[in-house]
Parts: sequence; C-alpha cells; structure tokens
Amino acid sequence: MAQIFNRSMNPLGRIVILGLPLIFAGTALGLAAFYRSGYATGMNEVIEQPIPFSHQHHVKDLGIDCRYCHNSIETSSYAGIPPTKICMNCHQQIWTGAELLEPVRQSFKLDKPIVWKKVHNLPDYAYFNHSIHIGKGVGCVECHGQVNEMPLVFQSKTLLMEWCVKCHREPDSRLRPREEVFNMTWKPSNKTINPKTGEFYPTDPAELAKLLKQNHGIRDAMTLTSCSMCHR
Ligand code: HEC
Ligand code: HEC
Ligand code: HEC
Ligand code: HEC
Ligand code: HEC
Repeated sequence: MAQIFNRSMNPLGRIVILGLPLIFAGTALGLAAFYRSGYATGMNEVIEQPIPFSHQHHVKDLGIDCRYCHNSIETSSYAGIPPTKICMNCHQQIWTGAELLEPVRQSFKLDKPIVWKKVHNLPDYAYFNHSIHIGKGVGCVECHGQVNEMPLVFQSKTLLMEWCVKCHREPDSRLRPREEVFNMTWKPSNKTINPKTGEFYPTDPAELAKLLKQNHGIRDAMTLTSCSMCHR
C-alpha cells in the first residue's frame, strides 16, 4: 500500500501534529493569564490623580483614621470620597501657600468638587456593600492592601469573581475583631482586648477564627457563594 506521507515529510509532520496542541494549550494558558493579569484587571496600576494626595503621608505619618475621610463606610454600601471641606479643615491652617495644594484651594473657593479618578471599579451587575464587610470584621487591608504605604492608591487585588468567592467559601481566617478593621498593621498574634468581655482574644489564629466566625454570625459557604448574593 502506498504511503500517504512521504518519509522526508515526517519531521515536519511530527512538529505539526505534536506542536499544534501545544500551541493551542499555550494560547489558552496565555488567555487565562491575560484575564487575570494587571492589564485586564487594572491591578497594581498606579493612577495619576489631579492632586498627588498621599495615604502614606496622611494615614501612616499623620495617623488620620480612615473614617475621618471615608465617613459613610460603616453605614452604607459606598465608602465615600471626602469633599474638599474635609481637606480644608487642616489645609486652611497648614501649608496654606503650597503650590501642590492650589487645586484644593481653588476647589474650595469656587465650590467645585475635585474630580478624583476611580481606582476600584466593579461592573454594575456585581453587587458590593462596604458596611456589611466592615460590620462582620473584614479589614480594609484584606481587600485594598497596605494603603498606609501608598503614596498614590492602586488596586492591589484582581477584584475578579473568583477572588470574592474564594473568601466567601471560607472567610473564617480573614476575620478580625471589629475594632481592628481600620488598623492597617493588626495581626492575630497581637494581644487584643475584647471590649465586651474585658478579656484578651485568643492569639492562636485557628482558635481566633473559630470564635470570630461564631461571634459575627457568619453564614455557611453555600449561602455566601450563591449567585444571587452578588448578582441581584
Ligand atoms: C485625609 C483623608 C483620607 C484619609 C484619612 C484616608 N483616605 Fe482614602 N482616599 C482619600 C481621597 C481624597 C481619595 C481619592 C483619591 C485617591 O484615590 O487617592 C481616597 C481614596 C481611597 C481609595 C481608593 C478609592 C477608589 O477610587 O477606588 C481607597 C481604597 C482608600 N482611599 C482607602 C483608605 C483607607 C483604607 C484608609 C485608612 C487606612 C484611608 N483611605 C484614609 C482620602 C483619605
Ligand atoms: C488632619 C489634617 C489633614 C487633613 C484632613 C488633610 N491633610 Fe493634607 N496634609 C496635612 C499635613 C500635616 C501635611 C504635611 C505637611 C508637611 O509635610 O509637613 C499635609 C500634606 C499634604 C500635601 C502635600 C504632599 C504631601 O503629602 O506631603 C497634599 C497634596 C495634601 N496634604 C492634600 C490633602 C488633601 C487633598 C486632603 C483632603 C482629601 C488633605 N490633604 C487632608 C494635614 C491634613
Ligand atoms: C471585602 C472587600 C473590601 C473591604 C473589606 C473594603 N473594601 Fe473598599 N472597596 C472594595 C471594592 C470591591 C470596591 C469597589 C466598589 C465598586 O466599584 O462598586 C471598593 C471601593 C472603595 C472605595 C471607593 C469608593 C467606593 O465606595 O466605591 C473606597 C474609598 C474604599 N473602598 C475604602 C475602603 C476602606 C476605608 C475600607 C476599610 C474600612 C474598605 N474599603 C474595606 C472592597 C473592599
Ligand atoms: C476577605 C474576605 C471577603 C472578600 C474578599 C469578599 N467578601 Fe463579601 N463577605 C465577606 C464576609 C465575611 C461577609 C459576611 C458574611 C455573613 O454575613 O455571613 C460578606 C458578605 C457579602 C455580601 C452579603 C451582603 C448582604 O446583604 O448580606 C455580599 C453581597 C458580598 N459580600 C459581596 C462581595 C463581593 C462582590 C466581593 C468581591 C468584589 C466580596 N464580597 C469579597 C467576606 C469577603
Ligand atoms: C461573592 C460574590 C459573587 C458570587 C457569589 C458570584 N459572583 Fe459572579 N461575579 C462577581 C463579580 C465581582 C464579578 C465581576 C468581576 C469579574 O468579571 O470577575 C462577577 C462576574 C460574573 C460574570 C461575568 C464575568 C465572567 O466571569 O465571565 C458571570 C457570568 C457571573 N459572575 C456569574 C455568576 C454565577 C452563575 C454565580 C453563581 C454560581 C456567581 N456569578 C456568583 C461576584 C460574584
């Protein structure tokens, strides 16, 4: 019987036959990697703002609490971006001549809000709510990273569905005492007093997770990963 392939074609044939699936696999992996990458999700991308407002300076060096500026966070789905008036509480007295702050003074004088660029932005079909996470003891750090070290805020997590769901499946070890939600440097090994009992929380991470899960009334994984929880 005649050979279908000429013998001399074999090496090429082999490359094609063995190589194509590899190329396909490579493309699929590449696409998956792209989908999760900073390019596609905006992760780790530093965003220039109209004023170079530094969280590092205001939070870490000056020790201002998140709630001084993001004051709707405990009661509403939205954290809130501070109006210029809040900046002027201090900057009417401090650095009043600084050129960097000219846009802040202009905004205040003309009563025109500063147009900050959004750093985090979920699509509209995904429902998110700050107050519930804060109330149940999920720290800002879990989702925003070390904001106190950021001269300019960037998105430090993918914010993809798989990221939300991973925590919803087992949030226990990501919980902290409610009083520590705004603390950017808290660790389970810290000696933390429970103001309700006057006793220390356990410093063993597993023991603490179990206690907090119970105290905060965390629902089961099935409920927390059901589609209608986040797509309403
Ligand atoms: C002195 C006021 C002030 C304080 C205190 C402050 N912030 Fe902010 N924050 C701002 C301003 C103004 C913006 C908008 C400009 C920007 O994105 O940097 C902002 C933006 C953010 C953003 C990005 C919002 C977006 O567009 O997605 C996050 C996250 C954030 N702050 C977290 C925190 C956390 C966590 C704390 C406490 C550890 C904190 N902030 C304390 C003023 C403040
Ligand atoms: C609780 C007081 C306080 C508030 C509120 C505050 N600042 Fe400041 N800000 C300071 C101090 C203090 C400095 C530092 C001066 C220095 O470096 O010694 C500063 C410095 C700055 C600088 C100079 C750059 C830097 O980070 O060193 C900018 C820009 C600035 N602030 C913008 C803002 C804006 C915008 C807001 C409102 C969202 C704001 N500040 C709210 C106290 C405050
Ligand atoms: C469970 C995760 C999670 C926690 C915890 C969390 N955030 Fe957010 N934050 C997000 C997401 C997701 C967005 C984007 C929301 C959107 O685009 O609708 C966001 C947006 C923001 C914004 C922009 C304004 C807004 O509400 O959209 C600010 C400011 C902010 N967060 C501050 C904070 C501070 C301060 C804390 C701690 C007190 C905190 N966040 C805790 C996930 C979280
Ligand atoms: C680090 C852990 C963590 C991450 C990340 C996280 N969540 Fe949650 N989420 C929780 C916890 C804990 C609760 C409270 C569970 C309970 O009440 O039983 C919660 C509750 C919720 C609820 C319930 C609100 C209600 O009305 O009952 C929604 C909606 C939600 N999360 C959406 C999201 C979305 C969307 C994301 C991703 C953008 C996200 N979460 C990321 C821990 C997390
Ligand atoms: C804890 C919150 C949460 C739960 C639970 C959840 N989603 Fe999502 N989903 C999100 C967020 C946030 C996004 C937008 C970010 C992204 O594209 O990954 C999203 C995006 C999507 C998208 C479009 C983007 C994509 O991933 O291709 C689909 C489709 C979707 N979800 C379906 C579902 C289904 C079906 C379920 C139930 C099995 C579900 N979701 C449960 C938070 C959630």
